[in-house]
Amino acid sequence: MKLLIVLGAVLLALNQLVVAKTHNVICYYDTSSIMRIGAANFTSKDLETSLQLCTHVVYGYAAIRRSTYEIVPGDKRQLPLFQQVNVLKKRYPNVKFLLSMGGNADKRNPHKYMELLESNRDQKRGFINSVLGFLRNYQFDGLDLAYQFPEEKPILDESLLKRVFSAAKEKVSSNLDKNKVPTKVVSVAERRMQLTQLIGDLKQAMRGSNLLLSLTVLPNVNSSLYFNVPVIMGNLDFVTLATFDYSTPQRTPKQADYLAPLQALPPNKLRNPQANVDAQIRYWLGQGASSAQLNMGIAGHGRTWQFKKLLKSDKMPIRSSLDGPAAADANVRKTGIMAWPDVCTKVKQMTKYEDKISGNYAYNAPQVKGSTGLLITYENVASIAEKASYVKSHKLGGMALFDLSLDDVHGVCSGEKFPLLKTIRNKLI
Ligand SMILES: *[C@@H]1O[C@H](CO)[C@@H](O)[C@H](O)[C@H]1NC(C)=O
Ligand SMILES: *[C@@H]1O[C@H](CO)[C@@H](O)[C@H](O)[C@H]1NC(C)=O
Repeated sequence: MKLLIVLGAVLLALNQLVVAKTHNVICYYDTSSIMRIGAANFTSKDLETSLQLCTHVVYGYAAIRRSTYEIVPGDKRQLPLFQQVNVLKKRYPNVKFLLSMGGNADKRNPHKYMELLESNRDQKRGFINSVLGFLRNYQFDGLDLAYQFPEEKPILDESLLKRVFSAAKEKVSSNLDKNKVPTKVVSVAERRMQLTQLIGDLKQAMRGSNLLLSLTVLPNVNSSLYFNVPVIMGNLDFVTLATFDYSTPQRTPKQADYLAPLQALPPNKLRNPQANVDAQIRYWLGQGASSAQLNMGIAGHGRTWQFKKLLKSDKMPIRSSLDGPAAADANVRKTGIMAWPDVCTKVKQMTKYEDKISGNYAYNAPQVKGSTGLLITYENVASIAEKASYVKSHKLGGMALFDLSLDDVHGVCSGEKFPLLKTIRNKLI
């Protein structure tokens, strides 16, 4: 009996080793989730439940101070969570703990990310030293650069724009203006060179302390503009592509399309033919990235639009009647976004179109005049499993869940906790 238990433990440990070697299961952990109230409050206990399923946990998000370009906490309330890292590291020795910077969570003066790239040697040195100090202080195993680049503009329907000119266009363009570099005009080639240099300098400084350095390519950042792929790959341990949010109610309030299509969708004038997971991964591979260094990002959230009138057509892309982000729900409390436990509960009662390759969406039409309809685009277990097959057949490094706190932490969907994360883990083993 005892022998069996020991044997079981050995097999389990071996299994862990194999997983760590073959595929990454990267768990993004947005620490601001500690500020959510009620059931949506993601606690340290929840984190520990999920850690057994992760090979890496990426703590989001540190910020940069504009005056000095030092890395700083995004919020003081993160500090107690960072302080737990060294304890968790001892308890989960197979998990790597990374600190992530940016992540579109650093909203103040977002152009400082471009300014840091343009800054002089001393300023860059100051940034790098602050990173080393921060990692050492909390005993992180490395840094993830979720670098905030300006986003690609969404494709908008001209005829529709004319009709709804004011509302839709203003919202979109004010979003874009926020991201625009206000002062210096720097060419794209120069920008690419500056980032390559910064990554090289960071790696150089980290080498002695055996720290990891990774890059997260945030949604809708055009890789061909900012990344010299073959050169930066030499200085990065891995790159995670946030391959989702190709369509969001913030980007296109009056139009909806699939959240994260695995393959190219049928051509349409509202669609960017490259806005799909496969195109993005093939771009990086085509530029000489080694497949084992690339991770595919998965959204744990759904995107939600509201509408007041009946839809003229319910086939994607939907461009009639939509009226911007749906109201915030009681859990995540942000307009236009919904966590998986709410998605899985809501879509049971809705008209659903589910396809493991294109993705899934569901809607409820407004029932009576004055009521509001809801449209949700989302991943589910089947579409995530299909993506995992892709990761295996293309021999990619692994998959990353954005975000642990948006998975079904309490098991309200089917009684099982972290069903999305478990799908990733079980499929990749
Ligand atoms: C979330 O839970 C933690 C731990 O139980 C608690 O310290 C924190 O105050 C809670 N946050 C909110 C906003 O309720
Ligand atoms: C990225 O930029 C290139 C060059 O401007 C363009 O050809 C390509 O369509 C863009 N890709 C995406 C996904 O928008």
